[in-house]
Amino acid sequence: MAAAPPASIPRHLAVIMDGNGRWAERRKRPRAIGHRAGARAVNVCIDFCLDKGIGALTLFAFSSENWGRPEEEVGALMKLFLNALEREVDELHRRGVRVRFIGNRERFAAPIRERMDNAEALTAGNTRLHLSIAASSGGRQDIARAARALAADVAAGRLRADDIDEAAVAAKMALADLPAPDLFIRTGGDHRISNFLLWQLAYTELWFTETLWPDLDAALLQEALDDFAGRERRFGLTGAQIAKGPQQSTESTAA
Ligand code: FPP
Repeated sequence: MAAAPPASIPRHLAVIMDGNGRWAERRKRPRAIGHRAGARAVNVCIDFCLDKGIGALTLFAFSSENWGRPEEEVGALMKLFLNALEREVDELHRRGVRVRFIGNRERFAAPIRERMDNAEALTAGNTRLHLSIAASSGGRQDIARAARALAADVAAGRLRADDIDEAAVAAKMALADLPAPDLFIRTGGDHRISNFLLWQLAYTELWFTETLWPDLDAALLQEALDDFAGRERRFGLTGAQIAKGPQQSTESTAA
């Protein structure tokens, strides 16, 4: 990532983009139209991060559970992902955005997987904004995958079970090379994490809004940032300890 932004600017923003379906239903339009409008809001969010110097943005685009939605809606979302990958990646590359996908890629059809691979390869050297798109992704699955990887290391004699600590688990989780999200935003009015980045959100500041994702604009994102700037992040310590000097918690010292 580029040079560190001031502490009032999150280094890493994580977002649940909720409300596309309701946005469309309120207009008596098919839900797919809401997702299309949601894709435009993704660009608003990326532009905002680039403008503010936020180094990492992680978007929850499709959960492991979303595969259970009506076939027509899943099909429309897949078409949208494919189009977005075709349309947006060159421009993201030009603007210095590194694109990565987290989640179970195997569940996507070959043309989408191929474009995901290509987007990652093309943008791998970019450092201005690290954009991670969680697709067929879930926090519990991520933790289970990390546990399997550690168990494999133990079975192969590369690791002793007694040496499995927080850092060892963290190293196997998705986004291990990024600082944990400083700020989490969920649009659409629900106050929950919905199995998104469970491990990584342990000390993240949470911010919720009733605004539906397709109605997102820079003013709303700025509202979230202003609220974030006023929070005291204690990482389990006391306010007095925090006031005294640099935090020594694992979170604050993480990469
Ligand atoms: C949640 O709204 C949103 C999704 C399941 C899909 C998110 C996808 C996009 C924003 C579009 C494109 C994304 C990229 C990365 C190109 P919902 O359908 O659950 O809304 P509801 O709660 O109103 O039903």
